[in-house]
Amino acid sequence: MESTTQRPDLRGRHILLGITGSIAAYKAAVLCRLLKTAGAEVRVVMTPLAKQFITPLTMATLSKNPILVEFFDPENGAWNSHVSLGEWADCLLIAPATANTLAKMACGIADNLLLTTYLSARCPVAVAPAMDLDMYAHTATQQNLRTLAERGVRIVEPAEGELASGLTGKGRMAEPETIAAFVGDLLDEKKKSLLGKRFVVTAGATIEPIDPVRFISNHSTGKMGYAIAGELARRGAAVTLVSGRTTLATPSGVDRVETLSAAEMYEAATAAFDAADGAVMCAAVADYTPTEVADHKMKKGDGELTIALRRTRDIAAELGARKGGRLLVGFALETHDEEAHAESKLDRKNFDFIVLNSLRDAGAGFRGDTNKVTLIDRTGREALPLMSKREVAARIVDKIETLL
Ligand code: C5P
Repeated sequence: MESTTQRPDLRGRHILLGITGSIAAYKAAVLCRLLKTAGAEVRVVMTPLAKQFITPLTMATLSKNPILVEFFDPENGAWNSHVSLGEWADCLLIAPATANTLAKMACGIADNLLLTTYLSARCPVAVAPAMDLDMYAHTATQQNLRTLAERGVRIVEPAEGELASGLTGKGRMAEPETIAAFVGDLLDEKKKSLLGKRFVVTAGATIEPIDPVRFISNHSTGKMGYAIAGELARRGAAVTLVSGRTTLATPSGVDRVETLSAAEMYEAATAAFDAADGAVMCAAVADYTPTEVADHKMKKGDGELTIALRRTRDIAAELGARKGGRLLVGFALETHDEEAHAESKLDRKNFDFIVLNSLRDAGAGFRGDTNKVTLIDRTGREALPLMSKREVAARIVDKIETLL
């Protein structure tokens, strides 16, 4: 992203400013003022060490909000929720970001309020590194920065110049004007690019009843589909999330339709598809359902039990057959001959692209918070590294945007 030093327009934006223990923390005061003058609401989270470099009183006065440092307010025991801070923010900006905080972010260490907030934040995250030139150039720091960049963290490059140590080189935090402009650009990029578009997302496992007590289902948690629904909504799309069984909370701005069986999911998804611009088929839909559902709990006997099953309808294939100019994205979870199977589904179900995950890859598939996928369309394949499901969702929605 090109950064300009024009004055950004941050009216109505929520900026969470993280300050870590660097001598450059004094510049955070100017930065906070600039963000406020640009119209942003600013809340400040400081690491415990940052308080040695700039006082909470200064930052509270400039941001016009109490400063957050600890998990609990020592006075009254009130819980400073990192989750709600993350939800509140349109952007988490850590400036200055020390080598120590960057390393902890790269490792997922969560030993202070700022780091827990980073780990739960769904908004864009930007860091402005500030450190001595040798610390900045160190392979560990460079590797951590690369890791963070791969995960979508935006880095405001430090400048060359005189450092607090007396040495001269790269590591000096970018000037507050540059950082404020960078945040403005970053938020502009994330403007509601899908405003006016309507999507259907299916997610979670279906439940096929055998009797009033038992059912056939699978291990899908719905996390991937919910992350996609949330990302589409964040970018302004109207989203109908046709959900099977899951324990997840509905992402904000998403309209959730509860279903259980494949038949119910079929009805809800096909009904919503007509008015949609596209659909993402993420649900793990049972391929078979019991031919008959017993009215009463089936009693056990001594012998074997056979349950007759019939095929369910393929929701994705049905939407593919009637999709017209709509966009259709499918998933394939495979255990062998992965790419060949995914490509055959791409054609059979008339998807625009298919997201392949293999159960053979560590960190991919059910339950976890990470996934490793390959995006396959008719022109080629793009293998993505292991990343959080939230980041995978962002990449899938990026591709949707390019195809719309
Ligand atoms: O054929 P398979 O189940 O592997 O295809 C997976 C893709 O098809 C996924 O996108 C899944 O959500 C969708 N699907 C569906 N309805 C079914 C079976 C699969 O929408 N009955």
